[in-house]
Amino acid sequence: MPTLLLSPNDQMWVNKVIDIFNSHEPVVLPTETVYGLAAPVSSDVAVARIYEIKERPTFNPLIMHVKEEWDLSQWAEIGDVEKKLISLFWPGPLSLLLKKKGVSDLVTAGSKKVVLRAPAHPVFREVLDAWGAPLVAPSANSSTKLSATTAAGVLADLGEKIVAIVDGGTCEWGVESTIVEVVGDKVSILREGAISKEDLEKHGFSLSVSTKTESTPGSQLKHYTPSVPLYFFENEADWASSSSKSSLYLKVLSSDSSLSFEGRNIETLSQSNNYKEAASKLFEFLRTAQAQYTEIRVLKTQDVSLGRAINDRLLRASQR
Ligand code: TXA
Ligand code: MG
Repeated sequence: MPTLLLSPNDQMWVNKVIDIFNSHEPVVLPTETVYGLAAPVSSDVAVARIYEIKERPTFNPLIMHVKEEWDLSQWAEIGDVEKKLISLFWPGPLSLLLKKKGVSDLVTAGSKKVVLRAPAHPVFREVLDAWGAPLVAPSANSSTKLSATTAAGVLADLGEKIVAIVDGGTCEWGVESTIVEVVGDKVSILREGAISKEDLEKHGFSLSVSTKTESTPGSQLKHYTPSVPLYFFENEADWASSSSKSSLYLKVLSSDSSLSFEGRNIETLSQSNNYKEAASKLFEFLRTAQAQYTEIRVLKTQDVSLGRAINDRLLRASQR
């Protein structure tokens, strides 16, 4: 069956999504970060389909998406610092790792903790309202591959494996939500994402030095892998050292390098030096580039604000 393409302007689009959930299949929905492959937490069959479609290892848990006004205490223990984070950043791209209460082991892959997030995207929120209960939604891409920030990007990767997709245009942020855990009175960033360290500090949260391991959320080193080699350079001279006509030389901001590349393919994610613009273009840019070049050579940008999440994705895209 070809994938059903829905637009938020179609009549009855929400009803169609709900019908598909009732038939125990996931639906691809836009969020403000990346597209998500959404399914009702209450349907073990639909949740299992997510793992099958993404070819995701079953030990990798799923984020539970909720509305901020719901009674969250039915699913997790929420302390004072978490409440403050929720009141400041929800709805929005901040996910919280919490001690779980009554959430199925299929969602959390057997862990005693659950990640909750209240997305800001109006399409996702309308579906949450209509369904009236939590939805799990990993990024809508094959496991270890690039995330998708347009409907076309999702279709290029998952194609007819998905029953339906709601096209919400290009995602605003382009990198996934930041995942944090509160430890004592400190906030630990487990996955860099759309909400930066600076955003948290600005509101007076003290950050603890995160002790990330490969089992920390979003920390598998091999992730976001393009189909051609991606090399990630900290040093400008190394970045520019080869001179292949079939290579792409990519920088994040225009100001990251002023080297000129006569006769070579050079691209910049944001000419106006805007990290948000760069992040929102990142994944679809790499998806297009992997079809056009034999290798992608990327220069690291500064580890500030969203630049940190961009560097994190690029470092992992370079692992083979
Ligand atoms: O922005 C986002 O967060 C997107 C949109 C679709 O909401 N979702 C997303 O989900 O990025 P996913 O599954 O691609 O990445 C979630 C990360 C995974 O690395 C997973 O291992 C981790 O969160 N995670 C989820 N639940 C967890 C749990 N209970 N314990 C530890 N890690 C968890
Ligand atoms: Mg993902």
